[in-house]
Amino acid sequence: MVGYLPFLHSDSLHRQFADLAEAHGPIYKLKAANKPMIVVSSPALAKEVIQAHKSTFSTRLAPVVAKIFSYDGNEVAMLPYGPDWAAMRKVLAREVISNQALDACRALREGAVLAGIREIRAGEPTGVFEAAFKMVVDSTLAMLWGGGGGSESEGGGAPIFAAEYRQAIGEMTVLLGRPNVSDAFPLLTRFDLQGIQGQATKLAKRFDCIITSVIERRLKDLEGKEGMVFKDLLQILLQVQGRADATGRLLSDSFLHFKGLVLDVASGGSDPATTLIEWAMTELLNDEKVMTKVVQELDQVVGRSGRRVCVGLNLAERLMKYVLASMLHSFEWKLPDGEEKLDFSDKLGVVAKKVKPLVAIPFPRRLGKLGCEVQF
Ligand code: HEM
Repeated sequence: MVGYLPFLHSDSLHRQFADLAEAHGPIYKLKAANKPMIVVSSPALAKEVIQAHKSTFSTRLAPVVAKIFSYDGNEVAMLPYGPDWAAMRKVLAREVISNQALDACRALREGAVLAGIREIRAGEPTGVFEAAFKMVVDSTLAMLWGGGGGSESEGGGAPIFAAEYRQAIGEMTVLLGRPNVSDAFPLLTRFDLQGIQGQATKLAKRFDCIITSVIERRLKDLEGKEGMVFKDLLQILLQVQGRADATGRLLSDSFLHFKGLVLDVASGGSDPATTLIEWAMTELLNDEKVMTKVVQELDQVVGRSGRRVCVGLNLAERLMKYVLASMLHSFEWKLPDGEEKLDFSDKLGVVAKKVKPLVAIPFPRRLGKLGCEVQF
């Protein structure tokens, strides 16, 4: 046992864990409040631990704030291992974000990415995260509920509620990344000493308003219109729900599970996917040869062994590659004058983010067409 978690600095926890591993080896124990924690620092050992103790690690600890955001844990990432989790994960992976479903809504995500590319101002210093985040969130929402037609003629552009949703995800990511004393001392939960839970509850209501309103609109649009088909993921979810209603199985039991699945797709990967795009662009501006390496490494970053491995890999890969490829295909990115050295320092939140956001200047490539012709 090497010490007490509260003495470590939360922004750089991952680095401090790595330093401790240098001194104590790849596996050691820490104490945080009344909870012992085991830190495993080598990928090989992590794989061994996760595989050998599948049942122990098949339910993840749900931080108080994450539960608030997930309809009290009624969503794939927060559900304990068991039949509800297995059924929801199966619906998500095999139906909602299956290859077939994602192929079918390709035009929707491409429309939203193209709309985002058009908003990038050539020659102006551009926050890479913001630009990519808009495209990632808007294209995710376009695939999810943009099949009723958006601002672009065929493929849809920014879907309804995109701006509100983007803002809400930004706020959610900050709250999820903040250490909450209630997680270490569950008895203090009801006092919400840092006020994080109150903020999360308000924000969760905003998410729920958007999701509920989208579902209600869709149900209204479908009323009395037999055979009307929306080519988006929400429609697939409604069909699954219809089947469940008929057989009396899982999703009919709880509207929360249904909304949890919508939330999974809408919020699951936007921040990590955009963060990876920003890191990839940083690496690229540093050394062009790393491009291939960056894309190849995606699998290793997102995928891990064990039962709770990321279920959104399929979607994340397509989105990230398409957004990144469109940014690189449409523009040549250069660092602002006088900035030669790139900053690679990171801070820990839900994912490791850049301390200094990447700002680069886009110069249009003379290729005629904005966006990217390659299909992902
Ligand atoms: C590049 C983008 C992404 C990264 C880096 C990422 C990373 C991860 C990681 C590290 C895990 C935990 C794995 C484990 O505990 O073994 C996870 C789980 C999960 N991810 Fe992702 N993810 C990404 C994109 C997405 C997307 C687009 C979705 C949307 C569907 C998504 C939904 C989920 C869900 C629902 C879980 C929980 C799975 C379970 O507990 O069964 N992720 N992700």
